[in-house]
Amino acid sequence: MTTSIAPAKNKKSRSSNRGSYWITTFGCQMNKADSERMSGILQQMGYHLAEAELKADLILYNTCTIRDNAEQKVYSYLGRQARRKQLLPHLKIIIAGCLAQQEGASLLRRVPEIDLVMGPQHANRLETLLNQVDNGHQVLATDEQHIYEDIATPRRDSPICGWVNIIYGCNERCTYCVVPSVRGKEQSRTPKAIRNEIQNLAKIGYKEITLLGQNIDAYGRDFKVGEHNQLNQLSLSNLLEYIHDIEGIERIRFATSHPRYFTKELIDVCAKLPKVCEHFHIPFQSGSNKILKKMARGYTIEIYKEIINYIKQIMPDSSVSADAIVAFPGETEDQFNETLSIIKDLQFDLVNTAAYSPRPNTPAATWPNQLSEKVKIDRLREINSLVEKVAKERNLRYKDSVQEILIESVNSKDNSQLMGRTRTNRLTFFPRFLNDGKSHLAGEIVKVKINEIRPFSLTGNLI
Ligand code: SAH
Ligand code: SF4
Ligand code: F3S
Repeated sequence: MTTSIAPAKNKKSRSSNRGSYWITTFGCQMNKADSERMSGILQQMGYHLAEAELKADLILYNTCTIRDNAEQKVYSYLGRQARRKQLLPHLKIIIAGCLAQQEGASLLRRVPEIDLVMGPQHANRLETLLNQVDNGHQVLATDEQHIYEDIATPRRDSPICGWVNIIYGCNERCTYCVVPSVRGKEQSRTPKAIRNEIQNLAKIGYKEITLLGQNIDAYGRDFKVGEHNQLNQLSLSNLLEYIHDIEGIERIRFATSHPRYFTKELIDVCAKLPKVCEHFHIPFQSGSNKILKKMARGYTIEIYKEIINYIKQIMPDSSVSADAIVAFPGETEDQFNETLSIIKDLQFDLVNTAAYSPRPNTPAATWPNQLSEKVKIDRLREINSLVEKVAKERNLRYKDSVQEILIESVNSKDNSQLMGRTRTNRLTFFPRFLNDGKSHLAGEIVKVKINEIRPFSLTGNLI
């Protein structure tokens, strides 16, 4: 996934002598949240948004390395900018994020036009690092860092839905995954800092927040017992209770959950707290216990099923999404079929799928039993068509129902429509203009009767 932070429309960029910038973000929500903070820092320093990528004086690629294709995409973008710099020597090129952390100095050798390579833990230090660049240095910032509280106000993409990091890094060691080596050890933010950030968002009109972490259920386990909660170890459940009363925030979401740490207590707390939306993103990765063991995931598929069944028992209207990997080294046809069976049995609302991609410095990449590209492509195709079929079946339950939608914006592909999401996170479109020609506004919660379903979105009418 690639997103670009585009110039704010209809707003004249504030003039500045620092020049213009452009950020392109690859990868997950964690990177998007980091980009919003780095964008805030650049604005604070006096940079303004460029009209287009090819007009910017400073280019920042916030990169991803989760799979090989994510990495290759960055190199193709980078090549274009390196050529541009040969004609425009003042152009600054910054490579941030996970690929920057993984490749470090070798990126500077491979593309000498780069001015700054900075890992994800350095996002809040962008100003200091850029000052070093301005002093004529080529800068590498990939050492392990304690992440300081944000010093800049992020420049957020959405004025309605905000992302709030609560824990950085990951202490798991899934045998396929590059994240722990590029994002470092778990570091939880204090409940006070998190509450402050959400309160500030509420004050400027935000209605929904999504708490973010690679393994969000690990929240608080790096604090000492009693450090931020007088009696117990602080947990995600405590945090949800602690932030729930913030006035103005109507919806609370969180991602990503790990089945190994997802507790019944958390499910009960979600059911009890009205603002916590009944959508859960809990990757299972494989339906085969043998593969789960080789992945070092630390749970069995039976435990996973128990969690999902408990969620559905307590919150029958909830939606569940997940991630799955196909063609992991040594995965047999039967084991792949076990993954398909789980999708049919548990009726997921959405599954993000990927074919296994060997990553540097991960154990599974060195195993001899890698599967062929053909098997990867075939299995990916098969699983994707099943995911789509199941998602559409699941969506039947919305037909003719009335859903509460938080309006996010005008539909960028059809400006006669507004778009928002159900509490269960389904994208929903409906006509923008009322009979009197007026329109509802972003940030309002409205009731929409659903009349059309597709696998991954809905259409309806206001009631
Ligand atoms: N922390 C989350 C997700 C992290 S990365 C979790 O533990 O579930 C997002 C997704 O990318 C993963 O859920 C996994 O499905 C996929 N992924 C990670 N490494 C991969 C690899 N080497 N090849 C293919 N997919 C991978
Ligand atoms: Fe990667 Fe596993 Fe950590 Fe998720 S829990 S980020 S898959 S190591
Ligand atoms: Fe990619 Fe880094 Fe996220 S590798 S998926 S951007 S944590």
